[in-house]
Formats: sequence, C-alpha cells, structure tokens
Amino acid sequence: MPNFVSVTRDGRIAVVTIDNPPVNALSFHVREPLMQALFSLREEPDVAAIVIACAGRTFVAGADITEFGKPVQQPDLRAIIAVLETIAKPTVAAIHGTALGGGLELALGCHFRVADTGAKLGLPEVKLGLLPGGGGTVRLPRLVGALKALSMIVSGTPIGAAEALAAGLVDAVFEDGLTAQAVRFASEMVGRGGPFTPVRHRDGRLDRAELPEFDKQAAELAKKARGLEAPIACAQSVRNAITLPFDEALAAERELFVKLVAGDQSRAQRHLFFAEREAAKVGAKDIVRRKIARVGVIGAGTMGGGIAMAFANGGYPVTLLESTQEALQRGLATIEKNYAVSVARGSLSEDAKRQRLGLFEGSTDYGDLADCDLIVEAVFEEMAVKREVFGRLDAVAKPGAILATNTSYLDVNEIAASTSRPQDVVGMHFFSPANVMKLLEIVRAEKTAPDALATIVELARRIGKVPVVVGVCHGFVGNRMLAARGSESEALLLEGATPQQIDQAFTDFGWPTGPFQMGDLAGLDIGWRNRKARGQTAIIADTLCEQGHFGQKTGSGFYRYENGSRTPAPNPHVEALIRDKAAEKGIAPRTIGVDEIIERTLYPMVNEGAKILEEKIAARASDIDVVWVNGYGFPVGKGGPMFWAGLEGIDKIIGRLDHWHERTGKDVFKPAPLLRRMAETGSWESAAS
Ligand code: 3HC
Ligand code: NAI
Repeated sequence: MPNFVSVTRDGRIAVVTIDNPPVNALSFHVREPLMQALFSLREEPDVAAIVIACAGRTFVAGADITEFGKPVQQPDLRAIIAVLETIAKPTVAAIHGTALGGGLELALGCHFRVADTGAKLGLPEVKLGLLPGGGGTVRLPRLVGALKALSMIVSGTPIGAAEALAAGLVDAVFEDGLTAQAVRFASEMVGRGGPFTPVRHRDGRLDRAELPEFDKQAAELAKKARGLEAPIACAQSVRNAITLPFDEALAAERELFVKLVAGDQSRAQRHLFFAEREAAKVGAKDIVRRKIARVGVIGAGTMGGGIAMAFANGGYPVTLLESTQEALQRGLATIEKNYAVSVARGSLSEDAKRQRLGLFEGSTDYGDLADCDLIVEAVFEEMAVKREVFGRLDAVAKPGAILATNTSYLDVNEIAASTSRPQDVVGMHFFSPANVMKLLEIVRAEKTAPDALATIVELARRIGKVPVVVGVCHGFVGNRMLAARGSESEALLLEGATPQQIDQAFTDFGWPTGPFQMGDLAGLDIGWRNRKARGQTAIIADTLCEQGHFGQKTGSGFYRYENGSRTPAPNPHVEALIRDKAAEKGIAPRTIGVDEIIERTLYPMVNEGAKILEEKIAARASDIDVVWVNGYGFPVGKGGPMFWAGLEGIDKIIGRLDHWHERTGKDVFKPAPLLRRMAETGSWESAAS
C-alpha cells in the first residue's frame, strides 16, 4: 500500500507530506490518512507547528475530479479543513507547482501559506462548471478582498506567487528549498507566539461599502456567462461572504456546489476536461519522439503568420518563407504589429516582444529550410501549389524532418505522395487566428509514421494547443461537420427565417455568434470561392458576393456595418433579396420556430459526427467534442455536439432526422447507421466498436 500521506519531524515542527501522483489530487485515499495525521498532530505535545507539503511536481491540484458524481466518502475536504481550523499551533501550507481548487482551499484552512517563486494559486472550479466547494468562496475574500476574489473565482485563472504575495494570499515567497524554508517560517511563528487566527475569523478585508462596485462587476461578468450557471453561482457565493456570517455563507456555498455538481453543465465540462486529455494520448508512451529545435513556416499570409507566432510564443526559432520579398516583408510587418498590439494591451512586455521577434528569420530561399526539424506549409489552398511546395521541400529538408500541411480540406495522402517520404508527412490544421485559437487538428495520413504523429501531438501541447488526431477526408472533422451544419441555412432563409432569427437561435443555444454573423466576420468570399471551385451554389450568399457584399470588410453582407462599425444591423437589402429568390422558386414564406432551426442545423451535424466515427476519421466521440468546443465555439456547458446529443436524446434526434429526410429527401438527414446503434446501446463507444 503506497504511503499517500507521511509525517516527518524537523525538531518540533511536523511536516505532513501528501504524495498522490501525478497531481496530488485529494482522493479518498489521501483524505483519510490526512485527517488521521491532523488529529494526532493536534494532540501531540512535542509538535509545536505543522507544515503541509507535497511530493512530486505540484502541491494539491484540487479535489479528485473522478470522484464527482459518486457518493461522497467521508472525511470530505470540508471536514479536514474544519479540523485544521481547530488546531491552535501554527499550520503552514508549503506550496510549489499549482495549488488549485480544493488544494488552495486546503491551504486556506491553514494559518499561513508560503510558496516558491514558480507557484501558481487559483480556484479553477468554474471551468468544470462548479464553484469552489471547500470554503474557497468565503475564505479567499477574507484574505484578498471580495473584488479580487470575484475576479479570481469567476475567471478561474490562477495567479503567480508574486501577485499572491502582494494580494495577501501568501505570507512569504522563497526562491528555493521550500520545505526547509517553510519549517523555518513555522519555527519563527512558534517563536512569535499565538494565538493564531484562522482565515475564517479574519474578516477585516470584507467591506460592505464595496457592495455597489461588487454588484456592478458581477453583473458585467454575468452578461458574459452566456447561459452558464457556474460563474453566476461563484459571484453569488463570494457576495454571501460579505453579507452573511461565515457559517451561513459556507452552508450556502455547499448548497450551490451540490446543485452544480449534479447538473448537466458541470457533467459536460468535466467530460471535456477528460476528453481533452484523452485526445492527447497518442502512440505508445515509449515511442521516441523526434527532436524539434527549429520550425519552418511556408507562406506568411493569414495563417502562416499566426502559425509562426504560435511557435515563437512557445519559444521555437522560426524560419518564415515567402515567394517574394514583398510578401515576406508584409507578413513580418503584420507579425510585428500583432505583438505591438499585445504590448499596448498590457498582455506582453516590451522585452518579451523583442525576444519573440528575435526568433524570426525571413527568407525567400527554400534552401534556408534545410536546418528545420518541422516545416509547416500554409500556402494557397490549391492541390497543384501544395504538391509543388512539397516537391521542393522533399529536395531540401533534412532526413527525418516532419513536413506538415495546414490545408483545410485537401487530401493529405495526395500531398504526401508528392514527396519521397510520405512517412514524414502529416496535416497540422490550425484555426484562425492561429496564435490564439487552441485547437489543432492533426491529420494522420495513410503512411504517417507513428513517431512523427506522436512528436506533433506532444509539440502541440508544448505550444499550448489542444491536439486532436483525425483521419483524411474532405474537411477533416471540424470543417466537414461545419458543412453539414450549414447545409440547410439557405433553405431556412428561403422558407422564411431571417439571418437574425437563425443567429439568435444559435446565441440563445450558447454559441458566441450565429452562422451568418460568423460568415460576415470571416468574409463571405471565402465560402463563395470554395463553392465555385467545387461547382456548388448558395443563391443568397453567391448573389451577395457577386454584388460585392463580402461582410464586415465591405461594410455589408448578411448584415449592415455602418461607418466601420462591427455591430451587425438588419439588412433590408438581404431581406428583399431572400423574398425575391423565394418567389422565383415558388416558395411561400412561413414562420419558422427555434426548434426547427436547431433540428435542421445541429441534428445533421450530430449525424455527420456519427458518420465520421463510423469511418474512423475520429477515434472517439469525445475527440469530436474537443474539436467543436475548441475550434468552433460550441458551448462548453453542453459538452460538444456528441455529448449534447446524449442530453438531447438520440431517439428524438433520429425521429426528427427521419421526418426531415422523408420531407426533403436530403442525405444530410438520413440517420447514420451508427446513430441508430447509439440509440440501442446508449453509448458512442459501444456503438462504434
Ligand atoms: N482530479 C483527478 N485527476 C486529475 C486532476 C484532478 N483534480 N487534475 C489532473 N488530473 C489528472 C489528469 O486527468 C491527467 O490524467 P491522465 O494522465 O490519466 O490523463 C493527469 O492528472 C495529469 O494532468 P494534466 O495532463 O492536465 O497535467 P498538466 O501537468 O498538464 O497539468 C494541472 C496539471 C494544471 C494540475 C491540470 O491537470 C489541471 O488543471 N487540473 C485540474 C485542476 C482543477 O480543476 N482543480 C479543481 C478541481 S475541483 C475542486 O477542487 C472542487 C473543490 O472546490 C471541492
Ligand atoms: P493567404 O492567402 O492569406 O496566405 C497564403 C500565403 O502563401 C500568401 O502570402 C502567399 O504569398 C504565400 N504563398 C503562396 N504560394 C507560395 C509558395 N509557393 N511559396 C511560399 N509562399 C507562398 O491564405 P491563408 O488564409 O493563410 O491560407 C493558407 C492555408 O491555410 C490554406 O491551405 C488554407 O486552406 C489554410 N487555412 C486557412 C484558414 C483561414 O481561416 N484563413 C484556417 C485554416 C486553414
């Protein structure tokens, strides 16, 4: 039986060490011995003070998320903290790595907190659809004030040791030798003498006069919550810390926690937490990854520039290659401008900007890519151009270099075949803006070598991306399902829905924007060119493009954008155009409800997801969810399209797809066999196996 909690002595100071790899989560097998240790140390006359520390890479990173949704096994975290607060001798949490969630709450149960310089402290429960359920919302404000606590708890973003010291969350920060320093700190406190006040009794920083400002900030945060319950509950609970006595506020926090943890939104967000980690597990652990020291990027346009920045942000030197000096200079200037904007916004220091810009080398000579270990191509979306580029890469790249394409739709097998080393070719489908968007679809082609794939997955995480491995098909997982989602847009317009109505149905569902606002933002000309290349049409969007209405950049698209405004206003021209085209086709407009909009857009998307699973383009339904949440703004509180389908009811979805299939005869509505199997088995895994 491993020793999850051990106690050692340094003179009269007891050091309790939690050792529960990988992140020292507060599982039941930790809580039980921890509680026992605290009970006995409390009574032990030889012990003058207690330090709580952790082995391994981090302090406690939170409650054990795998235990949520199961019956609670006592002692729970709250009971442990309650015992901590009965201890009269000084208690000190020694924090390294991350003190998150229940981990920070445990530390808040101590009289003192000390940290090493690299430590991060936060209450990220909101990202799991929860609020801190171990007293975090009522203790943190007592140390840092309600406004700071509000921002930390609602954002879920951890703060560094220096900021924590300045805010009053930690009492000392040490460069090295944390446990020894914590012991010294504890001895000093013993010398200073008590009584030592638990955080629960320290309410000097709770100021009722701050309530109006608190309510103002909470209301702004609520507006951004887009239907998520957790941020609202977090704000409410921190407010209780100001307005209610400690025990009442604590009880109210518990009540909110219990409600959230049992709800669909938190289930969805916990599903995503594990789904993201599952998606990143590719290849055997012992596969030797290739060494990536320098990255080449071909094309310094919209995507190439962003991709180059993403690597530079991760610390990689980048060779950026363009076809002409002029295009290269334009690309480099855009990169410089983007970094300058970050500096102006305060998210990047002048020094960091200089450092990052120092990582770029521009070139127009393919020979300069010879020392790159990975080369990512982001040139025009045309097979002939891609094949030419990969042919040239084949001639100059060093043996073993990984050659990647950022193609959105094209056949990566065909691109790989234009080289003599298809085993080194892989797709790296970044999303725009590539330096910001988290998703990376990694396309495994037929001949991609397992070590090349594993290298790219690991590299993706290293530069802060969320990787998902997908197979080769037109548009891969994301864009293929996007096409299914949009396939009925035109028909819905012609039958009587307005762009505003459809967009509203989407934002009410929780999407950040609807499809028409999104189209206007991205530029309608992109889809138009794509359709023309594939011999497809979309009467309304095509006509708008033929008339020069490309969306925001031309001041009008599906909406009007007056005087450079980015706020969409209804566009009477579009409404008239829709009426005319519907009349030409003999379609009589009717009222279309929200349910129909969802059925004709999101149900086909789920259906396409089932086909993708059937074809093994995605390995798991949860991978599809990760793609959609991180790449396309699918609401996190619904867990991604495949998780949401379970909530919505597979039988219901099949019934309505059958209905629309019968009515329209369109393939997008024909339920995939795997969807029917899902209805029988109740799980995507068993349906797909
Ligand atoms: N419970 C259970 N497992 C956890 C966990 C947790 N709190 N945190 C991480 N893990 C697991 C991961 O699933 C992963 O498992 P795997 O190797 O089998 O896939 C493993 O630990 C390593 O995690 P990461 O790959 O994420 O490791 P990183 O080094 O990249 O990140 C981390 C470490 C920053 C600690 C990150 O794991 C993290 O953010 N964890 C969640 C922190 C969190 O949300 N804490 C709050 C929990 S809720 C809570 O405490 C409620 C309380 O208020 C009552
Ligand atoms: P873009 O037109 O902005 O940039 C392409 C750049 O490639 C241009 O600067 C061009 O000068 C350069 N180029 C063309 N041929 C070249 C060659 N032979 N050698 C060196 N440079 C060359 O295009 P964008 O939008 O950046 O797209 C690039 C690729 O990324 C395409 O495959 C596209 O499908 C894909 N993509 C685009 C997304 C988007 O939102 N724009 C999203 C994801 C992928």
